[in-house]
Amino acid sequence: MAVRGEGVYVWEADGNRYLDFSGSAAVNFIGHGVGEISDAMAEQARQLEFVHTSQFTTPVAEEFAQELLDFAGDHFAGGAVYFTCGGSESVETALKLARQYQVEIGERNRHQILSRQQSYHGATLGALAVSGNRKRREIYLPMVREFEHIGVPYCYRCAFECTDSCYNCGQQYAAELERAIQAAKGAAAGFIFEPMSGATLGAVAPPPGYLQAVAEICQRHGVLLIADEVMTGMGRTGRNFAIEHWGITPDILVTAKGISSGYAPLGAVITSKKVADAIAAGSGAFLHGFTYNAHPVSVDAGRAVLRRLRALNLVHAADSQTDGTAGAALKTTLESLRDLDAVGDVRGLGLLWGVEFVADKRTKAPFAAEKSFAGLVGQACLRRGLLVYPMQGCVDGIAGDHLLIAPPAMITVEQIGWAVEQIRAAVKESLPTGGKHQPGVSKPNRAI
Ligand SMILES: Cc1ncc(COP(=O)(O)O)c(C=O)c1O
Repeated sequence: MAVRGEGVYVWEADGNRYLDFSGSAAVNFIGHGVGEISDAMAEQARQLEFVHTSQFTTPVAEEFAQELLDFAGDHFAGGAVYFTCGGSESVETALKLARQYQVEIGERNRHQILSRQQSYHGATLGALAVSGNRKRREIYLPMVREFEHIGVPYCYRCAFECTDSCYNCGQQYAAELERAIQAAKGAAAGFIFEPMSGATLGAVAPPPGYLQAVAEICQRHGVLLIADEVMTGMGRTGRNFAIEHWGITPDILVTAKGISSGYAPLGAVITSKKVADAIAAGSGAFLHGFTYNAHPVSVDAGRAVLRRLRALNLVHAADSQTDGTAGAALKTTLESLRDLDAVGDVRGLGLLWGVEFVADKRTKAPFAAEKSFAGLVGQACLRRGLLVYPMQGCVDGIAGDHLLIAPPAMITVEQIGWAVEQIRAAVKESLPTGGKHQPGVSKPNRAI
C-alpha cells in the first residue's frame, strides 16, 4: 500500500521505503512528490477543471501543444498534437489517424498497419493487434484483426551471425518490411515500431542503419512511419525523443508515460505538417475522440513537467553518452553486473536499460520459463527495498528473463551504486530457484 513519494523514493503505509529504480514502469522522470507540479494542477483545476473538446479548446492545451511541437524538433513545425489519457489511447489514435490520412489523400484501400514481433504498443484491442508480446496477446488473439508482424533485430541473439555490428542484420530486417508492404498489395497505411524496444525485449537498441532503411522504405511506398515513444520519449534515452539517436523523422510520434511523469494520466500524438495539412485540407476534422482528450488538469501537469525537465536540464542528465551524467553512471554501474554468471547482457541508452539473465553464459541458454527467474530477482530486490521491472519472454515470447531499469533522472551516483548492489545480491539469492511469479500482470485490487 503506497502512500507517499519523494525524489527517487516511495513509502508504504507501514513505513517501508523503496528506491524506484524503474520509474514505476518507465513513467517517472522528474522524481516523485514535486510540489510545483501538484500546485500547477490544483491551480488549473480551480480555474477550469474541464471542457469538452467538441465545444472548446483551452489556453493550456494550445500552449502545451506548441511547446511539444517545438520539443519534438524542426520536422514537426506546423504539425498538430492530439492529447489523450495515456499510451494505449495514443496508439489507438495514431492508428486511426494513419488510416484517415490515407483516406483524405485518396488512398482509400490503405487500411493495414504493419508492426513488429516482440513489441508492445498497449492493452486496448487495436494496440494489442499491432503488438507482438506473446504473453500479453495470447488469450485475446481471437478478438483482434491482425496484419503482418515482421521480425525485430535483437543483436545479443543475432539470427544472422553478423560480424559487422549487425549492419547486415539491420538491412535484412528492413528488407522484410519491404516484402511485407509489397505483400499487402497497396493496402499498407502505416508501420508502427518502438525505436528502442521497451519492456518486451528489454531496452534493445536497433543496429546501425536499420531505422534509416526502414524510414526510407516507408517513404518510398507511401506508408506512414509511426514511432511509438510511449516509453522512450520525453528525454528517457538522453534525447528529447529516441529517434534523434538515428536521425529519422517519423510522420507520427506517439508519447505518454514521461510526458506527465505520472502526475496525471496523459499521452500525446504528435503529427507532422504533412498529416495535419491533409486532414485540414480534406474533411477538416479527425473522426475520433475520447471524452477526456486534452483534459486541462492533465495537460497542465504535462506542461509543468516539461518546464521542470527543462529547468533542471534532465534530458542532458539522462544522456549516457556524456561523462558525468546520471545516464553515464547508470551505464557503467549496471555494466559491472556482467561479471555475474547469470548476467548474459546489459544494454540500453540514456536511463533505459535491460539486464538479461541466462542459465549458461557461453550458449546464452535462458532459464526454464517456469522458474520465472526475473520474477524471483524482482521479488528479492523488493525485499531489499528496490523497485525494478521484471519481464519474461525476450528469447521467444515465453522464455528469456530480464529486468528493465528506468529510474528518475535526478537519481544520484550513490543511489545508483546502492541499487546495483541490491540487484547483484538479489541475483545471487535467486540461484538456485523455485517458486512462481507472473511478471507484467497487475495485481487486481478492490478498486477495480
Ligand atoms: C511502447 C509502449 N507503447 C504503448 C504502451 C501502452 O501505454 P499505457 O500503458 O499508458 O496504455 C506502453 C506501455 O508500457 C509502451 O511501453
